[in-house]
Amino acid sequence: MTKTVAGFSKLTKEEKIHWLTKTYLSDNKVAIKTLKSYWNDDKQLQQLHDEFIENTISNFYLPYAVAPNFVINGKDYIIPMAVEESSVVAAASLTAKFWSERGGFKTKVISTIKTGQVHFMYEGDFNELQGYFNSIKSTLFEATETITKNMRKRGGGILDIELKNKTDKLPNYYQLHVSFETKDSMGANFINSCLEAIAKAFRKDKIEIVMSILSNYIPECLVRAEVSCKVDELGENTEEFAKKFHQAVQIAQVEPYRAVTHNKGIMNGIDAVVIATGNDFRAVGAGAHAYAAKDGQYRSLSYCSINNGIFRFWIEIPLALGTVGGLTKLHPLAKLSLEILQKPTAKELMQLVAVAGLAQNFAALKALTTTGIQHGHMKMHLQNILNQLGATQQEKVELINYFDDRQVSFSMASEALEKLRVSKLLE
Ligand code: MEV
Repeated sequence: MTKTVAGFSKLTKEEKIHWLTKTYLSDNKVAIKTLKSYWNDDKQLQQLHDEFIENTISNFYLPYAVAPNFVINGKDYIIPMAVEESSVVAAASLTAKFWSERGGFKTKVISTIKTGQVHFMYEGDFNELQGYFNSIKSTLFEATETITKNMRKRGGGILDIELKNKTDKLPNYYQLHVSFETKDSMGANFINSCLEAIAKAFRKDKIEIVMSILSNYIPECLVRAEVSCKVDELGENTEEFAKKFHQAVQIAQVEPYRAVTHNKGIMNGIDAVVIATGNDFRAVGAGAHAYAAKDGQYRSLSYCSINNGIFRFWIEIPLALGTVGGLTKLHPLAKLSLEILQKPTAKELMQLVAVAGLAQNFAALKALTTTGIQHGHMKMHLQNILNQLGATQQEKVELINYFDDRQVSFSMASEALEKLRVSKLLE
């Protein structure tokens, strides 16, 4: 039997599920029940989610949490996070509390320029092309006037259009390299619409437009977040801790295998807030990792220094975020997240997200250079292991208590549950 299907998107949700389960899951009743158990009773809310994408058959939940006690530039925040990894929110909360007692986080937006490109091929003389570009440049701006009108009112718009000769990289390859200020919107749709209008106005004999698209590489849309204190304010074994922490950051600066994991820990915090606020975490991830490799080698996005007894730890990361447009007002939880964050501008959100990344990185490095990561991580993961083993609520309470001062692993948890059950039988 063929498993291809025509007109799938035209089927109702029930019909899609029926076709899917009949074709791929041998009419699996459990699968149908699982899919339907995630439907929302609120029909309007369900429809909203159904219409975000095509072919929706259910919802896929992520836990939504808040990490309290962040002090950022002297102001208090509680940060919403959507993430499945057990220890992320606990780590963020602990770090927030730790630094709230040491002056909090300081942040600064360095720049907010975004970029898009019209990629094209041209076989003629470069001077002729340059002359044509110079003569038509103002027309290219005019071609976008209706699209940029509102953005210009908000103080944004197209900053510049440049012609770039890329023929040393690829024969006949040129670009219109366009820079944008998109204020409180992430700007993807705005940028892409402008680029397509520019490409249309630029088109001419011998110019073969290949594509027009924004770039998710945004090295000029940068934010910095920092913490600092005297080394002897860092807690127990301060000198030793500061030294090892500093070494851990140095290692991530020079060793790509470590840098990727180090930055993954940063993205644990970044993505959780980016998702909770309805922003595009794929764009943020792509831009951040590309920035980490900006000098040709992949490196840590965070830095550490110890000078004259002062410990400083900071991050510099490109973030393209919006607080208007996209899902930010449409997804009820994204909207709520922005309210919890006290309705930030995009620039403020960049700072809050960078802080979440730095906090996560601090927590990971603190654990790695002291107790090791598994100690705290497995404790947080114990609940998942016990759920997987089918432990009852009562058994979970007893075993969480049992593992309070013991090392956790899947087999140890399984063994302890077994023993507990046997002991109950013998009671
Ligand atoms: C796990 O999700 C993240 C860490 O591996 C980050 C790191 O190693 O720095 C703990």
